[in-house]
Amino acid sequence: MKTIAILTSGGDAPGMNAAIRAVVRMGLSKGLRVMGVERGYNGLINGEIFEMNRNSVSDIIQKGGTILKTARCEEFKTEAGRERAVNVLKVFGIDGLVVIGGDGSFTGAKLLSKLGVKTVGIPGTIDNDLSYTDYTLGFDTALNTVLDAINKLRDTSSSHERVSIVEVMGRNCGDIALFAGLAGGAESIIVPEMGMDVDELCKTILEGKRNGKLHNLILLAEGVGGAQKLAKHVEEVTGIETRATILGHIQRGGSPTAFDRILASRLGARAVELLIEGKSSRVVGIRGGVIIDDDIDEALALPRKFDTNLYEIAKCLSY
Ligand code: ADP
Ligand code: F6P
Repeated sequence: MKTIAILTSGGDAPGMNAAIRAVVRMGLSKGLRVMGVERGYNGLINGEIFEMNRNSVSDIIQKGGTILKTARCEEFKTEAGRERAVNVLKVFGIDGLVVIGGDGSFTGAKLLSKLGVKTVGIPGTIDNDLSYTDYTLGFDTALNTVLDAINKLRDTSSSHERVSIVEVMGRNCGDIALFAGLAGGAESIIVPEMGMDVDELCKTILEGKRNGKLHNLILLAEGVGGAQKLAKHVEEVTGIETRATILGHIQRGGSPTAFDRILASRLGARAVELLIEGKSSRVVGIRGGVIIDDDIDEALALPRKFDTNLYEIAKCLSY
């Protein structure tokens, strides 16, 4: 292994820059050449590749987004597109590739490894939807962004004695809603993994009102969605003024938390070590506080996890 490259793909996530920094600096420390690929798999196909040095990653550990930029690339989903990428890697003399992204990006990395490219994936997505790892990069930061928003919504909801429905991201995964709901003291948490019972929800809201609750905060995962429609329905049934807030892309930005920066540094360092050890088709992650690596196929094949215990705790603590 002489030359490695790094790219970020799919939705950006806070902590991606800290991971890029870790890969570049660990790679250089181990005597490797490190190349940066811009715009994910698009840049790989188009040869948007440049050599990186220690200064290329100065002053980025605290920044959200990704200095390498990210993209979604349809061409890479075709065999012809991936073959173009393999040729570009050959032209640049790249022996190993670190891919930071979510499950889609990992599927791309897996297919690339089948064409002989040594690949290692770092989980970078706010959704926390990869079962093999307890946490993905960006999840903790997004969670804290949501928490900040909830605190503000709680102020105005209490003043007006309203119900507040907050729709958060996560694709089909309810983790952002669950963790933010628990941390923010939400009255109800609605996630795709547990489904939604609207009658039960309205009953809980009315009970809360009777018990003297000034506000009612409902965390709604985008995998269930329909915040505006739900708000209208809740208002009609309960007679309590209800407002919906869809937090949107604000959840993807911002300076990464200490947790995400440290996780990114550990995952980036391990990814480089794996490539040096000659490993391929691996993904790095964290389980029980320990940095682990798994086969990419096995990691992607795992069934979705959802912490029902945490969900039940949140439910018990909410009234
Ligand atoms: P994420 O990595 O965050 O899940 P996407 O699902 O949008 O984001 O995937 C990012 C990119 O990974 C896609 O634009 C595409 O280039 C590549 N990718 C996704 N799925 C596949 C696939 N089945 N085969 C090849 N490449 C894929
Ligand atoms: O995967 C990260 C994510 O932010 C999801 O939570 C959300 O569903 C999606 O990406 C939004 O994608 P886009 O940035 O293309 O609107």
